[in-house]
Amino acid sequence: MNFHLSEEHLAVQAAARDFAQKELKPGVIERDSKMEYPYEQIKKMGELGFLGMMVSPEYGGGGMDSLSYVLAMEEISKIDNSCSVIMSVNNSLVCWGIETFGSAEQKAKYLPKLASGEWIGSFCLSEPEAGSDATHQRTTAVDMGDHYLLNGTKNWITNGGTSKLHLVMAQTHPEKGSKGINCLIVETSMPGVAVGAKEDKLGIRSSDTHTIMYTDVKVPKENRIGEDGFGFKFAMKSLAGGRIGIAAQALGIAGGAYELALEYSKQRTAFGKPINQHQAVAFKLADMATEIEAAKLMVYRAAWLKDQGLDYSAASAMAKLYASEVAMRHSVEAVQVHGGYGFVKEYHVERLMRDAKITQIYEGTSEVQRIVISREVTGGKPYLPV
Ligand code: CAA
Repeated sequence: MNFHLSEEHLAVQAAARDFAQKELKPGVIERDSKMEYPYEQIKKMGELGFLGMMVSPEYGGGGMDSLSYVLAMEEISKIDNSCSVIMSVNNSLVCWGIETFGSAEQKAKYLPKLASGEWIGSFCLSEPEAGSDATHQRTTAVDMGDHYLLNGTKNWITNGGTSKLHLVMAQTHPEKGSKGINCLIVETSMPGVAVGAKEDKLGIRSSDTHTIMYTDVKVPKENRIGEDGFGFKFAMKSLAGGRIGIAAQALGIAGGAYELALEYSKQRTAFGKPINQHQAVAFKLADMATEIEAAKLMVYRAAWLKDQGLDYSAASAMAKLYASEVAMRHSVEAVQVHGGYGFVKEYHVERLMRDAKITQIYEGTSEVQRIVISREVTGGKPYLPV
């Protein structure tokens, strides 16, 4: 067993850290406060290859492994989680799904645009009445011969106001339940696609989250991904990988909050010495360091399993479940270490605390991760820790 990162992985990590510090940190407080979409920053992320890291070079991507993607997500998430969620959805839900399950024509047509950031993508599964219970899709895609007629509403759509491409899950054969669902590639320029108001959120405030309405949208048959009825499996398989990205985001939030708390605790004195020399603070830092280390091993291992072509569904669910809880717990503790300063925007740590919450909710709540894990643990092919 070797815990060293390769030269290539270290280089990706350093590049992402440098980019986050120099290009994302300035202005992040203001963008968050004003809910301002990071256009300029996302453009640069596209130019630097952060939006299509795992896409094959033949489609203009970086051809990197999942661990490289996780390392970049982690560094960017220490600073700006609006940028990292935009990056995560585009990389692991949209590009990965099209490259893994799309036709040759779909890949050639869409991946170069998505990998370069010329287009940003959205993953449209959640509905007002189908969140965790994702099999109960109300959105319909009626088979009209050469096209599908798409009708319905999706909500909580990341990149909803800016994306040019949606992967939309919709029910074609209601009598077949989850096996009747299709995934359609919808270009937002197609007539009948309407974008609702931007959500005013607790965290990741400069990312654009919207409700999307589809009214009689004619989607060509060739825009369906995979066989008829493959849509739900497509969504589940995409989310298994997506959850590694969100786990990396949570790891970055925890790491970022820890770094801020550690630094502050060295500078701040109370009762005649730096506060990290008081056991009350030192023990908080010890707990943070320990749990972040545990989360890191889980997240990196889930990425490694994916890179080895091994089953990673349970590992990604475990990594997301644990890393998101570590992010929440320790970003709260990091605010506590800062005292009153932690409660004001200028010190960055309150933003990380607000951002942490969504990692326990999107791409499957902590409760959904426990469903996925418990089914493996108690299932026919029980999960055995490796
Ligand atoms: N890979 C392949 N197939 C899978 C799978 C996986 N990981 N998980 C499930 N399936 C298959 C099942 O095997 C089953 O197929 P068969 O009938 O052929 O066996 C089929 O899919 C239906 O699965 P279940 O019976 O397990 O379905 P369920 O109704 O019990 O639901 C669930 C399972 C895990 C709760 C699922 O509904 C789920 O993951 N819900 C959460 C959805 C979610 O994560 N939403 C996030 C929205 S996207 C987002 O947040 C993006 C963003 O913008 C940030």
